[in-house]
Amino acid sequence: MGNLLRRYWTPACLSMELVADGSPLEVRLLGEDLVAFRDSNGKAALFDRNCPHRGASVFYGRNEDCGLRCAYHGWKFDVDGQCVDMPSEQRSFAERIKIPSYPVHESGGIMWTYMGPPESMTPFRDFGTEDLPDDQVLASKVFWDCNWVQSLDGNVDTAHISHLHQFFSVNDVADDGSDKPGYPSNAWSWKLWWLSRAPRIEVSDEWYGFKYAGLRETPNGYTHARVTAYTIPYGTVIASIPFSSRELFVVPIDDGSCFRYFFNTAGNLNPKHHGGLPMTDTPYARGGPLQSGITPREFTAENKYQIDREFQKNEAFSGIRDFVSQDMAMTESMGPIYDRTKEHLGAADLAVIRLRTMLIDAAKALAEGTEPPGLAGQGDFRSIRSAEKILEDGEDWRVLGTEEDPAVREALALLEQG
Ligand code: FES
Ligand SMILES: [Fe+2]
Repeated sequence: MGNLLRRYWTPACLSMELVADGSPLEVRLLGEDLVAFRDSNGKAALFDRNCPHRGASVFYGRNEDCGLRCAYHGWKFDVDGQCVDMPSEQRSFAERIKIPSYPVHESGGIMWTYMGPPESMTPFRDFGTEDLPDDQVLASKVFWDCNWVQSLDGNVDTAHISHLHQFFSVNDVADDGSDKPGYPSNAWSWKLWWLSRAPRIEVSDEWYGFKYAGLRETPNGYTHARVTAYTIPYGTVIASIPFSSRELFVVPIDDGSCFRYFFNTAGNLNPKHHGGLPMTDTPYARGGPLQSGITPREFTAENKYQIDREFQKNEAFSGIRDFVSQDMAMTESMGPIYDRTKEHLGAADLAVIRLRTMLIDAAKALAEGTEPPGLAGQGDFRSIRSAEKILEDGEDWRVLGTEEDPAVREALALLEQG
């Protein structure tokens, strides 16, 4: 699986974590210990942790004058890893020394890297960050204390929003007339999830991975579809009204922990305000608008995610006062990497099953010499979108979020106008 992951450009850290001539950053990625830094010219680099002289960590080095200088004997390396100064030797052999390094590319507020064989490197996959104006760049990351697929499973598991995230005052959401083909209000959508707790799952394989729909019957007898897209190996766009192209990448630190990167992409527009205002009347802590940076963890295993049993009895299904921490509590409490032979999967887990079989099949195929799916050049990654809608009679959920979808066309027209 590691060999497969190394064939894809992978988030290594946030761009904002690196300051020109500032402190180097320890980066653990795919089980490997690395050091990132930004040189005097603003160029970022990602090095092996150990200095090629005698192995001291270059994290303790001096980031100065366009290079990182090891604190032990002063050997200095430029952003390409080339040794450019060897002050401890009377006869320098710097030109023959390189610190192992990985190529990096900054896009959308994230420093990405490619850790695979150099001869197999493919171009960067543009999910809609390459042309994103600076004022729309938004990228955050948060640490999860469990295996990356365990964390990713929850992104393709629409059934749990009918339970884990629910709160009981959703019963008071009144029928506002939006239970008909088209876009329900965001509040009515919450209620639909609560009223129909055993969604039917349909999966459609795509060139980039798959998309799937959770289909729920509404009180008026219509079909409500939540469509989420998965891009092999790390990416998901979670269902949203009318659609979304914001990416959530789940990236392994090692087998037992991961970072979840959330980033904005171009074209994520809703000029007709389908769905109206977001549902704000929840009993959960309000985090305010989304912000770039490292999201702090206040709800952890150590404090039992601050579970409040009265709150659980009377107000919210989980008893945990923070939406994302509800997810963390479920997937982290399985342990760092759960023994999946002990699971009992059902029809509501169809997308979770597809996620796992797709990854395993691709890893096995690569071992037998078949190139991985979903690499650059196979399609336009900016066209990957989620969606959420109440379907017209005979409307195919597979069209939602594509360029055939009127809501997407509205957004693209607006994007073109600049
Ligand atoms: S170990 Fe880095 S210069 Fe000696
Ligand atoms: Fe969730």
